[in-house]
Amino acid sequence: MSDATGLAPEVPTLAGRRCTLRALRAADAPSIQRHADDPEVARNLFDGFPQPYTLAEAERWCGPMHRQKAFAHVFGIAVEGDEVAGCISVTPQDGLWACSALVGYWLGRAHWRRGIVGEALQLVTAWAWDAFPATTRLWMPIYARNLGSQGVARHAGYVLEGRMPLAMRKDGRAIDAVMYGCTRPGMRPSEEGRGS
Ligand SMILES: CC(C)(COP(=O)(O)OP(=O)(O)OC[C@H]1O[C@@H](n2cnc3c(N)ncnc32)[C@H](O)[C@@H]1OP(=O)(O)O)[C@@H](O)C(=O)NCCC(=O)NCCS
Repeated sequence: MSDATGLAPEVPTLAGRRCTLRALRAADAPSIQRHADDPEVARNLFDGFPQPYTLAEAERWCGPMHRQKAFAHVFGIAVEGDEVAGCISVTPQDGLWACSALVGYWLGRAHWRRGIVGEALQLVTAWAWDAFPATTRLWMPIYARNLGSQGVARHAGYVLEGRMPLAMRKDGRAIDAVMYGCTRPGMRPSEEGRGS
Protein backbone atom coordinates (compact mmCIF):
# COMPACT_ATOMS: atom_id res chain seq x y z
CA MET A 1 0.00 0.00 0.00
CA SER A 2 1.83 3.13 -1.22
CA ASP A 3 1.06 6.30 -3.20
CA ALA A 4 2.65 7.64 -6.40
CA THR A 5 5.75 8.72 -4.46
CA GLY A 6 6.31 5.15 -3.23
CA LEU A 7 5.55 6.25 0.33
CA ALA A 8 2.80 4.82 2.50
CA PRO A 9 -0.36 6.97 2.64
CA GLU A 10 -0.88 9.12 5.71
CA VAL A 11 -2.32 7.12 8.60
CA PRO A 12 -5.73 8.10 10.02
CA THR A 13 -6.30 9.53 13.51
CA LEU A 14 -7.37 6.96 16.12
CA ALA A 15 -8.70 8.43 19.35
CA GLY A 16 -8.44 6.66 22.70
CA ARG A 17 -9.00 7.70 26.32
CA ARG A 18 -5.33 7.94 27.24
CA CYS A 19 -3.78 8.88 23.90
CA THR A 20 -4.51 9.77 20.30
CA LEU A 21 -2.68 8.04 17.48
CA ARG A 22 -2.07 10.32 14.52
CA ALA A 23 0.18 11.02 11.53
CA LEU A 24 3.57 12.50 12.36
CA ARG A 25 4.20 16.09 11.28
CA ALA A 26 7.43 18.06 10.86
CA ALA A 27 6.52 20.06 13.97
CA ASP A 28 6.70 16.88 16.09
CA ALA A 29 10.47 16.54 15.65
CA PRO A 30 11.50 18.42 18.84
CA SER A 31 9.24 16.34 21.11
CA ILE A 32 10.24 13.08 19.37
CA GLN A 33 13.89 14.03 19.91
CA ARG A 34 13.32 14.88 23.58
CA HIS A 35 11.57 11.59 24.37
CA ALA A 36 13.72 9.33 22.17
CA ASP A 37 17.08 10.67 23.33
CA ASP A 38 17.14 8.42 26.39
CA PRO A 39 19.23 5.26 26.90
CA GLU A 40 16.38 3.75 28.95
CA VAL A 41 14.08 4.01 25.90
CA ALA A 42 16.74 2.66 23.53
CA ARG A 43 17.77 -0.21 25.84
CA ASN A 44 15.06 -2.55 24.63
CA LEU A 45 14.84 -1.29 21.04
CA PHE A 46 16.72 -2.73 18.07
CA ASP A 47 20.29 -1.54 17.52
CA GLY A 48 19.27 0.69 14.60
CA PHE A 49 17.37 3.05 16.93
CA PRO A 50 19.69 6.08 17.04
CA GLN A 51 21.30 6.93 20.38
CA PRO A 52 21.99 9.71 21.06
CA TYR A 53 18.86 10.79 19.18
CA THR A 54 19.56 14.16 17.59
CA LEU A 55 17.11 16.77 16.34
CA ALA A 56 18.38 16.15 12.79
CA GLU A 57 17.47 12.45 13.21
CA ALA A 58 14.02 13.36 14.50
CA GLU A 59 13.49 15.73 11.57
CA ARG A 60 14.43 12.96 9.12
CA TRP A 61 12.07 10.54 10.87
CA CYS A 62 9.14 12.98 10.92
CA GLY A 63 9.74 13.70 7.20
CA PRO A 64 9.32 11.02 4.50
CA MET A 65 11.46 8.42 6.32
CA HIS A 66 8.72 7.03 8.57
CA ARG A 67 6.51 6.45 5.52
CA GLN A 68 9.08 4.26 3.74
CA LYS A 69 8.14 0.62 3.26
CA ALA A 70 10.63 -0.65 5.82
CA PHE A 71 8.83 1.21 8.62
CA ALA A 72 5.31 2.07 7.51
CA HIS A 73 2.71 2.37 8.82
CA VAL A 74 3.76 4.66 11.69
CA PHE A 75 1.51 6.57 14.10
CA GLY A 76 2.71 9.20 16.55
CA ILE A 77 1.41 8.58 20.09
CA ALA A 78 0.01 11.96 21.15
CA VAL A 79 -0.58 12.59 24.85
CA GLU A 80 -1.74 15.68 26.75
CA GLY A 81 -1.62 18.85 24.67
CA ASP A 82 -1.18 16.87 21.44
CA GLU A 83 2.49 16.27 22.29
CA VAL A 84 3.89 13.24 20.42
CA ALA A 85 5.72 11.20 23.09
CA GLY A 86 6.35 8.01 21.11
CA CYS A 87 5.47 5.97 18.05
CA ILE A 88 3.66 2.76 17.20
CA SER A 89 3.92 1.04 13.84
CA VAL A 90 2.50 -1.84 11.81
CA THR A 91 4.73 -3.17 9.02
CA PRO A 92 3.19 -5.77 6.67
CA GLN A 93 5.71 -8.42 5.61
CA ASP A 94 6.51 -9.88 2.16
CA GLY A 95 7.06 -13.28 0.61
CA LEU A 96 6.98 -16.21 3.00
CA TRP A 97 5.63 -13.97 5.77
CA ALA A 98 3.10 -12.08 3.65
CA CYS A 99 0.24 -13.01 6.00
CA SER A 100 2.05 -11.41 8.93
CA ALA A 101 2.66 -7.83 9.98
CA LEU A 102 5.22 -6.69 12.53
CA VAL A 103 4.22 -4.29 15.29
CA GLY A 104 6.66 -2.02 17.12
CA TYR A 105 6.32 0.74 19.72
CA TRP A 106 8.13 3.02 22.14
CA LEU A 107 7.09 5.78 24.52
CA GLY A 108 9.01 8.49 26.38
CA ARG A 109 9.88 7.55 29.96
CA ALA A 110 7.90 10.45 31.46
CA HIS A 111 4.68 8.69 30.40
CA TRP A 112 5.37 5.07 31.30
CA ARG A 113 2.97 2.95 33.37
CA ARG A 114 -0.15 4.98 32.59
CA GLY A 115 -1.75 2.46 30.27
CA ILE A 116 -0.82 4.49 27.18
CA VAL A 117 0.94 1.93 24.98
CA GLY A 118 -1.45 -0.81 26.14
CA GLU A 119 -4.28 1.30 24.76
CA ALA A 120 -2.31 2.32 21.66
CA LEU A 121 -1.69 -1.34 20.80
CA GLN A 122 -5.39 -2.14 21.11
CA LEU A 123 -6.27 0.78 18.82
CA VAL A 124 -3.67 -0.09 16.21
CA THR A 125 -4.55 -3.80 16.25
CA ALA A 126 -8.23 -3.10 15.52
CA TRP A 127 -7.20 -0.66 12.78
CA ALA A 128 -4.79 -3.13 11.18
CA TRP A 129 -7.41 -5.88 10.76
CA ASP A 130 -9.50 -3.42 8.71
CA ALA A 131 -6.61 -1.79 6.86
CA PHE A 132 -4.86 -5.03 5.78
CA PRO A 133 -7.48 -7.62 4.84
CA ALA A 134 -4.81 -10.14 3.76
CA THR A 135 -3.04 -9.99 7.12
CA THR A 136 -3.93 -12.87 9.42
CA ARG A 137 -1.31 -12.41 12.12
CA LEU A 138 0.16 -9.44 13.94
CA TRP A 139 3.24 -10.09 15.99
CA MET A 140 6.26 -8.67 17.72
CA PRO A 141 9.62 -10.11 18.59
CA ILE A 142 10.52 -8.81 22.07
CA TYR A 143 13.76 -9.10 24.03
CA ALA A 144 13.02 -11.73 26.69
CA ARG A 145 14.25 -9.31 29.37
CA ASN A 146 11.64 -6.70 28.35
CA LEU A 147 8.84 -7.43 30.82
CA GLY A 148 7.15 -4.08 30.13
CA SER A 149 6.65 -4.81 26.45
CA GLN A 150 5.36 -8.30 27.25
CA GLY A 151 2.84 -6.69 29.64
CA VAL A 152 1.71 -4.36 26.86
CA ALA A 153 1.31 -7.30 24.48
CA ARG A 154 -0.76 -9.35 26.93
CA HIS A 155 -2.85 -6.29 27.81
CA ALA A 156 -3.86 -5.98 24.15
CA GLY A 157 -4.74 -9.68 23.81
CA TYR A 158 -1.49 -10.96 22.28
CA VAL A 159 -0.22 -14.32 23.47
CA LEU A 160 3.23 -15.76 24.01
CA GLU A 161 3.90 -17.94 20.96
CA GLY A 162 7.44 -19.00 21.61
CA ARG A 163 10.86 -18.34 22.92
CA MET A 164 13.91 -18.03 20.67
CA PRO A 165 17.15 -18.49 22.59
CA LEU A 166 20.06 -16.29 21.50
CA ALA A 167 18.06 -15.11 18.49
CA MET A 168 18.53 -11.33 18.52
CA ARG A 169 21.62 -9.17 18.48
CA LYS A 170 21.78 -6.26 20.89
CA ASP A 171 24.87 -4.17 21.63
CA GLY A 172 27.04 -6.77 19.92
CA ARG A 173 25.79 -9.83 21.79
CA ALA A 174 23.13 -12.47 21.18
CA ILE A 175 20.17 -12.37 23.56
CA ASP A 176 16.95 -14.37 23.96
CA ALA A 177 13.76 -13.25 22.26
CA VAL A 178 10.11 -14.03 22.90
CA MET A 179 7.42 -13.84 20.24
CA TYR A 180 3.98 -12.46 20.98
CA GLY A 181 1.25 -12.76 18.38
CA CYS A 182 -2.41 -12.22 17.70
CA THR A 183 -4.47 -13.82 14.92
CA ARG A 184 -7.35 -12.28 12.98
CA PRO A 185 -10.59 -12.45 15.00
CA GLY A 186 -12.86 -15.22 13.77
CA MET A 187 -10.05 -17.22 12.16
CA ARG A 188 -8.81 -20.41 13.77
CA PRO A 189 -5.17 -21.43 13.45
CA SER A 190 -4.59 -24.51 11.32
CA GLU A 191 -4.40 -27.75 13.34
CA GLU A 192 -2.31 -29.42 10.63
CA GLY A 193 0.82 -31.06 11.92
CA ARG A 194 -0.14 -30.85 15.59
CA GLY A 195 0.95 -33.79 17.67
CA SER A 196 3.01 -35.31 14.87
C1 LIG B 1 7.48 -1.08 27.25
C2 LIG B 1 6.66 0.19 27.10
C3 LIG B 1 6.21 0.31 25.66
C4 LIG B 1 5.45 0.13 28.05
O1 LIG B 1 4.59 1.23 27.76
P1 LIG B 1 3.57 1.76 28.88
O2 LIG B 1 2.68 2.77 28.25
O3 LIG B 1 4.35 2.19 30.07
O4 LIG B 1 2.75 0.43 29.23
P2 LIG B 1 1.29 0.40 29.88
O5 LIG B 1 1.24 1.38 31.02
O6 LIG B 1 0.27 0.53 28.82
O7 LIG B 1 1.25 -1.06 30.49
C5 LIG B 1 0.56 -2.15 29.87
C6 LIG B 1 0.74 -3.36 30.76
O8 LIG B 1 2.12 -3.68 30.84
C7 LIG B 1 2.57 -3.64 32.19
N1 LIG B 1 3.88 -3.01 32.24
C8 LIG B 1 4.25 -1.86 31.66
N2 LIG B 1 5.54 -1.60 31.95
C9 LIG B 1 5.98 -2.62 32.72
C10 LIG B 1 7.23 -2.94 33.32
N3 LIG B 1 8.29 -2.11 33.19
N4 LIG B 1 7.35 -4.09 34.02
C11 LIG B 1 6.29 -4.94 34.15
N5 LIG B 1 5.06 -4.68 33.61
C12 LIG B 1 4.92 -3.54 32.91
C13 LIG B 1 1.56 -2.77 32.92
O9 LIG B 1 1.51 -3.07 34.28
C14 LIG B 1 0.28 -3.12 32.19
O10 LIG B 1 -0.23 -4.34 32.68
P3 LIG B 1 -1.80 -4.54 32.94
O11 LIG B 1 -2.45 -4.52 31.57
O12 LIG B 1 -1.85 -5.87 33.61
O13 LIG B 1 -2.22 -3.40 33.78
C15 LIG B 1 7.52 1.43 27.49
O14 LIG B 1 8.08 1.19 28.77
C16 LIG B 1 8.65 1.71 26.51
O15 LIG B 1 8.44 2.40 25.53
N6 LIG B 1 9.86 1.18 26.78
C17 LIG B 1 11.04 1.42 25.93
C18 LIG B 1 10.90 0.90 24.50
C19 LIG B 1 10.40 -0.54 24.42
O16 LIG B 1 10.77 -1.39 25.23
N7 LIG B 1 9.59 -0.81 23.37
C20 LIG B 1 9.09 -2.14 23.10
C21 LIG B 1 10.08 -2.91 22.26
S1 LIG B 1 9.51 -4.57 21.91
